[in-house]
Amino acid sequence: MPTPVLYDLLCSKGGADRRLLATGAPPTRRGRDDWIITGMRLRSLGLITALAWLVLVGLTTVVTDMDPAPAVLFAVLGLLVVAGLVVLLSTQRLVQQVARDNARARTADSGVAKARQAQATKRGPVPAKLRAQEVAKVRAAVDRDLKRTFRQVEAMQNLYAMIDIKHALPASRGWPASPDLLLLLVDLVDRHRPKVVVECGSGLSTLCLALAMRRFGIEGKVIALEHLAQYAEQTRELLRRHGVDDIAEVRVAPLEPVKAGEVEVDWYSPNAWQDLTEVDLLFVDGPPSSASTHARYPSLPFFVDRLVTGSHIVLDDYQRDKEQLVVDQWIAEYTDRLTLEKIPLEKGAALLTFE
Ligand SMILES: C[S@@+](CC[C@H](N)C(=O)[O-])C[C@H]1O[C@@H](n2cnc3c(N)ncnc32)[C@H](O)[C@@H]1O
Repeated sequence: MPTPVLYDLLCSKGGADRRLLATGAPPTRRGRDDWIITGMRLRSLGLITALAWLVLVGLTTVVTDMDPAPAVLFAVLGLLVVAGLVVLLSTQRLVQQVARDNARARTADSGVAKARQAQATKRGPVPAKLRAQEVAKVRAAVDRDLKRTFRQVEAMQNLYAMIDIKHALPASRGWPASPDLLLLLVDLVDRHRPKVVVECGSGLSTLCLALAMRRFGIEGKVIALEHLAQYAEQTRELLRRHGVDDIAEVRVAPLEPVKAGEVEVDWYSPNAWQDLTEVDLLFVDGPPSSASTHARYPSLPFFVDRLVTGSHIVLDDYQRDKEQLVVDQWIAEYTDRLTLEKIPLEKGAALLTFE
């Protein structure tokens, strides 16, 4: 082991540990690690010692008038001793480094092992039966999801076959009606040939309804009520792009407080829909029902006298409680005139036939 003085000269870290050694206190754990002499210092010290030795031998030779041969021998011997010391200390440094790395690796390994053991003790082994149940649950969820996705792809393929879609469609996830609902609407147009279609909430559904009217040669009209000017313009642009802006019209109808029976809620401004009569198909996909439980309720009371006998009402998002409450209320109020069919679509749909 190098002495404290040697340590002081050779260590890579000085400050605190040097002070500790000066006071005679034992080196800290970190201090012990710092006994590692940097290679650079070791070489410098070797060089200085070698030079000092050469100067000493030189001076001695001159002062004592020594024969040059033994002086050279002394010089070489001294250099060999210094070189030997440097090699020895370097080897010691390497050995210490390897030992320190191994100790660190052992500490880390035992830490990981302890953590794993603690976790296993806490959770306990998972019983095989539970594992099987979890696997079955995940499998069922994946299976359900695949079937749902397949259904949407199938519906989209059907749509492409039924109506002439010549240009790109916007994405049908999220806000727009899902492909399975669009297919239901197009199928209703195909079967019942409505002349007047009214829609609450414009978008992809407006386009598909208009394309269906064109495809089946129906001389009629689609009127979409849209409370946001931005989306109204977006839908109009879509209709123009697909060349059906003469079949479908988007009306900006700002939401305003209305009273429908006992219900007070914001709904499409009457100015936008009061002229509409003889409606064959009413598609309710707006206003967004996040604002109120009754957000979509007024559509039937306000249109009940505008619907023809045998007309249909489709309400999207029937999976949601709010929409189910709305339908329950409609059925309660128009029991004799409504027949409900619950359609198990992605978001659920209520198909009502009005007599
Ligand atoms: C359910 S969306 C109507 C969707 C429409 N029937 C369709 O198939 O595309 C109801 C209303 O949400 C609004 N809306 C549409 N897209 C939106 C979006 N990306 N973010 C926020 N609101 C949106 C529009 O005002 C629209 O009338």
